[in-house]
Amino acid sequence: MDWGMKNRLSKIIRPEDGRTVMLAVDHGYFLGPTTGLENLGKTVIPLLPYADTLMLTRGALRYYIPPETDIPIVLRVSGGTSILNKNLLHEGIITSIEEAIRLNVVGVAFSILVGAEFERDTILAFTQVVDEAERYGIPVVAVTAVGREMSKDAKYLSLASRMAAELGARIVKTYYCEDFEKVVDTCPVPIVIAGGKKIPEKDALEMTYNAIQAGAVGVDMGRNIFQSESPVAMIKAVRAVVHENYTAEEAYQLFEEEKSGGE
Ligand code: 5RP
Repeated sequence: MDWGMKNRLSKIIRPEDGRTVMLAVDHGYFLGPTTGLENLGKTVIPLLPYADTLMLTRGALRYYIPPETDIPIVLRVSGGTSILNKNLLHEGIITSIEEAIRLNVVGVAFSILVGAEFERDTILAFTQVVDEAERYGIPVVAVTAVGREMSKDAKYLSLASRMAAELGARIVKTYYCEDFEKVVDTCPVPIVIAGGKKIPEKDALEMTYNAIQAGAVGVDMGRNIFQSESPVAMIKAVRAVVHENYTAEEAYQLFEEEKSGGE
């Protein structure tokens, strides 16, 4: 692995403990003004001291995040369909690697939809991005997206995650599920979990804890942080689980304390 690739990966997964808290705020690329991100900068900037990387689109980066901000960027480079489309996640390349370099990113993220009728389109576009990104030492995070009718079980998620790794992903983002060890153990690259739809803070912390115990290196979490009743308290609690080995109960207690501390 060359120096640039290693250097960028070390900005995503912290070398001190091999873990990461990636903050995902890329939802607007298919959801538009997502709840909590209507004014993306206002929500996200106070969270950045507790995030290791920020994942978002080029437009959100340009319009909401000042260029002086000290946060490694993972750029979403796949898209093409909206929540209104019945073929949601039939994604292609929406941002070039040249643009990613211009924006000084440490990684790019691309969603593949294994098992969909159009899986081939997403997979071929993904491998094209891998070829181009690797040329410049930029790691590709594969998002193993799950369609509306697909199950999020270990059998499906290990198939999709292993494929993503074999096709060139340096990091795989997937969903937490029962028997998550199987997903981690059969994937040769580090795995981070998505948060998914907003659930109670206690449950999201439990999911984070279980994922770390099963071998995930961290989270790439969005709605369960920025839609929390107290986003700063929540990201601090998630961080405590990922980087400080807090149990879910300890982290929830931290969340409660931070929340009532009045941000
Ligand atoms: C879609 C995505 C999302 O845009 C986002 O990053 C998911 O984060 P969360 O589920 O935690 O809100 O990856 O496939």
